[in-house]
Amino acid sequence: MDEKQSVHLSTNMIRIEQDEFREFIGEAQIQKRVRELGTEIEQDYLGSHPIFIGILNGSFVFLSDLIRAIEAIDLEVDFYKLSSYGNEKISSGQIRLLKSIDANIENRDVLVVEDIVDSGLSLHYIRKEILKHNPKSLRFCTLLLKEEVANLEFELDYVGFRIPKQFVIGYGLDYKQLKRNLKSIYSLNQEL
Ligand code: IMP
Ligand code: MG
Repeated sequence: MDEKQSVHLSTNMIRIEQDEFREFIGEAQIQKRVRELGTEIEQDYLGSHPIFIGILNGSFVFLSDLIRAIEAIDLEVDFYKLSSYGNEKISSGQIRLLKSIDANIENRDVLVVEDIVDSGLSLHYIRKEILKHNPKSLRFCTLLLKEEVANLEFELDYVGFRIPKQFVIGYGLDYKQLKRNLKSIYSLNQEL
């Protein structure tokens, strides 16, 4: 088995192999912001029956909290699965579609839910895919946005936190597939 050693150095520091991560956005702050986003989305979609499309793997934790912050509307959930990062801290720039949605989204209100937008390549790819199916409306929600890095030709409708250019893990986000289960978000203590 591939042994990746991770050590919890203190309550707010984690080491994975040579890399040290420090707590950056705490659990309470994330939960508060997710509830705010849920309320905002709920108000915007009142009277509609949208379909939320998560981008696997990273977004599943955020999506699961987000939908439970919404009570006043009926909604559906589906997923695309993309691969771009491989096992690295910097995107390969190559996007592969590993799984498509099953739902018919023609004439539906679609909300794409992402964990993090870095270069924006993944969302550009997903937007193109979704528009082929003629949805009634299309909006984007991301928990995190690396503002200085993202190069987007369209607006993001809901953004949880705007963060600097740094590598982050936890709350669904992984490093070498690990640490998605952390309740807080941690950032790498070094420049990329
Ligand atoms: P983009 O295509 O460059 O915008 O990258 C988006 C995808 O890369 C996200 O959905 C994440 O899965 C992954 N990603 C980007 N930045 C990070 C990071 O800091 N930590 C972990 N995964 C990341
Ligand atoms: Mg993702």
